[in-house]
Amino acid sequence: MTHTSKIKIADIFHNTDPSLDRQLLEKADHCRRQHLGSAVYPRGLIEYSNCCRRNCFYCGLRRGNSLIRRYHLQREQIIELALQAYDAGYQSICLQSGELSSSKEVDFIADVIRTIKGYRSKNSGQGLGITLSLGELTYKQYRQLWEAGAHRYLLRIETSNPLLFQKIHPPEQSYNRRLECLDALREIGYQVGTGVMIGLPGQSYEDLATDLEFFQAKDIDMLGMGPYIPHPDTPLARQKTEFIPDAFTTTIRMLALARILMPDINMVASTALQSIHPDGLKLGLKAGANIVMPVLTPEDNRKDYMLYANKKFSNFERLKHDIHEAGYELTLWQWGDSPHYFKRQGLLTTDYAPTGDSTCSLRSRI
Ligand code: 5AD
Ligand code: SF4
Repeated sequence: MTHTSKIKIADIFHNTDPSLDRQLLEKADHCRRQHLGSAVYPRGLIEYSNCCRRNCFYCGLRRGNSLIRRYHLQREQIIELALQAYDAGYQSICLQSGELSSSKEVDFIADVIRTIKGYRSKNSGQGLGITLSLGELTYKQYRQLWEAGAHRYLLRIETSNPLLFQKIHPPEQSYNRRLECLDALREIGYQVGTGVMIGLPGQSYEDLATDLEFFQAKDIDMLGMGPYIPHPDTPLARQKTEFIPDAFTTTIRMLALARILMPDINMVASTALQSIHPDGLKLGLKAGANIVMPVLTPEDNRKDYMLYANKKFSNFERLKHDIHEAGYELTLWQWGDSPHYFKRQGLLTTDYAPTGDSTCSLRSRI
């Protein structure tokens, strides 16, 4: 992105004309249909533990929050949830937890992954696709999990502004370390996803334009962005620094711009987006999102996985209904990998990957 186009993008965020939103959504929808069709792929989200060694200033799971009940699902519970999802047609799951980097924990989840990968559904010849979202681990640990069978990894940069990153994290966490992790994941061969929170205290529209530039420079395969939602039991919620005025509209604009700039990546309609607005899912999809992450975490544990206040959950039927009403199709029995990944590997040359399955068969490892 040139300096001028970055200024233009920041100008878009400053503009309050609603006709601009219509134009952005139309353009994003056009790009998405051209490059990805109308498919929306589910990733069944299993939040298997809310224990975390980190203390991010914005997150309800931070180790300093003594007001939540910590949990860790058993091996059999996770496997059971994954296989239920598989039989229901979800061909991908996302395993998420707080950051747990001991070798015991990594061995535990590697074993779970290997076991899940060993199953084949009667309805589908390929195994389950596994995405991980487990935070910052060592190169060796990322490799171990890749070898166990995971092939996508989500690690948000949270903000591409290093000064703002440092303001929302304790000194023990570093922007450069996060960059190193993203590079390691890419080198190992994962499909790499990152993302940011939108509307953080002290974040400017110029920062958001830089975030879009960052995603392009990192040549990412997947993107997850959502509004920052204060959690009452965190230090950032008490900070009085200025916010951008309308995090919801700005998030929709960010999604649309990301889709226009990166037409072939996978992009999620985040739970945070759905939590702050009743039409969050529909507008997120119209802005170009092609992935949804229905929460499969057991009912009993969900209230303890509150990254932010008032996290909402859609059931499967509601999700399907909303996707259909927005003009797209919930697509089961396919992995729906990011076409961008296959293009950057030189495995796909056409611009349109109709189902994602043709791309899957190109690489036996995946
Ligand atoms: N508001 C919105 N998103 C949040 N996350 C954590 N806390 C919040 C919050 N208060 C997001 C971060 C993190 C992901 C797991 O959840 O982006 O990477
Ligand atoms: Fe832990 Fe992730 Fe929350 Fe930070 S954002 S406290 S690493 S769960």
